[in-house]
Amino acid sequence: MPPYAVCCDAVFLDTQLHLSYTYPIKKRVVSAPVNTAEILEEDFRFIFFRAEEDMRIVSDIPSPEDCTTLIFEFSGHEVEPKIAAELWPRILQHKWVLSEKLGRDVGSKVACVDFIENVEPVNRDLHDAERIQLLKELGAQMVDQSVWETISESQPPKQIVNKRIILPLTEIELARKHAVIPPRTIIFFGPPGTGKTHFVRAIAGILQWWYVEVSPSNLVADGEDRLGANLKRLMEKARNLDEAVLFIDEFEEIAGSRDHASRIDKSITNEFLKQVPLLKREDKKNLLVCATNYIRQLDAALLRPGRFDCIIPVGGLDDQGRRTIFEHYLSNTSRGDVDVDKIVSVISLFTPADIEYLFQKVRQVAFEREYLKGEDYRVTTETFLEMIPIVPATLTGEIIEEFQQDCAHYTRY
Ligand SMILES: Nc1ncnc2c1ncn2[C@@H]1O[C@H](COP(=O)(O)OP(=O)(O)OP(=O)(O)O)[C@@H](O)[C@H]1O
Ligand SMILES: [Mg+2]
Repeated sequence: MPPYAVCCDAVFLDTQLHLSYTYPIKKRVVSAPVNTAEILEEDFRFIFFRAEEDMRIVSDIPSPEDCTTLIFEFSGHEVEPKIAAELWPRILQHKWVLSEKLGRDVGSKVACVDFIENVEPVNRDLHDAERIQLLKELGAQMVDQSVWETISESQPPKQIVNKRIILPLTEIELARKHAVIPPRTIIFFGPPGTGKTHFVRAIAGILQWWYVEVSPSNLVADGEDRLGANLKRLMEKARNLDEAVLFIDEFEEIAGSRDHASRIDKSITNEFLKQVPLLKREDKKNLLVCATNYIRQLDAALLRPGRFDCIIPVGGLDDQGRRTIFEHYLSNTSRGDVDVDKIVSVISLFTPADIEYLFQKVRQVAFEREYLKGEDYRVTTETFLEMIPIVPATLTGEIIEEFQQDCAHYTRY
């Protein structure tokens, strides 16, 4: 190990505690007590200091996407993830400089605003300002690109989503040559916990578009009778979104069949029917994705071609799909010998949500056993086999049969 470490891009003093320096080094923020972290050389971008044993990792440096979200939340400025990842350490450095100058700890938000407004001014016109205001109002987030990789190639409907949605939006010239029009409006349907929301986040992540999630419960926060008006306002705002995925969950709540609806419910479905073509008419890069567990309850007029470009089922997992998700959670579990093949074959009716819950149970039991015995406890095949019977599988023969009928009847892409 070299006698010194190089800290790039930023350093800030924890002025509140006056106990330690914290430095971003590569992907980690480390802390070292002031008296032992002897700084050898320092300039604007680099700090060389003696590496001491009592240096601690304090946190990870946020991912580029998180840097975008942080800068956006703090300053209202929208910055590409790559640039945000470069700016963020400099903002931390600015925080230190400001804290030193003012003789008090300056928060990250203040440092971020000051940096963006005064040190590295970002030009924005009125149009930009309005767009940023809109994204803020809608609680837009930037999702990590890696979410897409957590879904195995064999997990339906990844390949459909890739071919029908992602590629036409990214291979623009080729799509134009073959007159392929990327979809603007999509419905995902399928049993609970199968990964509908996860897919929508993954799409936003891989496209690096803003992710905006709305559920009918948000739209009635100020009273049930406000649903129609709030929906109309939301859709009007959504028309101006660019490079964004608007996700409406529990879609049956706002687009239920008018045959069995009350007068108020009918007017809400009518409003939505009116709004979808208006959204599609705008020449913007945005997607409206709606998800439901109850496709049969949706109004027939919405399901006919014209309003929604794709109706895509999200169903059970095959062996490979279950294995990918299982291994994803296993990698963050304190594990011993685990026969993955065996477990994956026993949980054939598990959804991703069930697998996640199984891991929650297994990790809790490992924690309790180690606490009680005071000895290292590692999760093994036996631990899983013990816990599986107490995690009920969401899918049943009946649910699968109904879903297959729905697939045959409604799927369109
Ligand atoms: N491919 C995957 N890899 C890892 N985790 C996944 C994957 N797919 C889904 N999950 C996780 O499984 C859980 C359930 O997924 P999700 O919430 O997307 O299901 P859903 O179909 O939207 O459920 P609901 O119908 O209840 O809204 C989530 O915590 C999600 O993060
Ligand atoms: Mg969901």
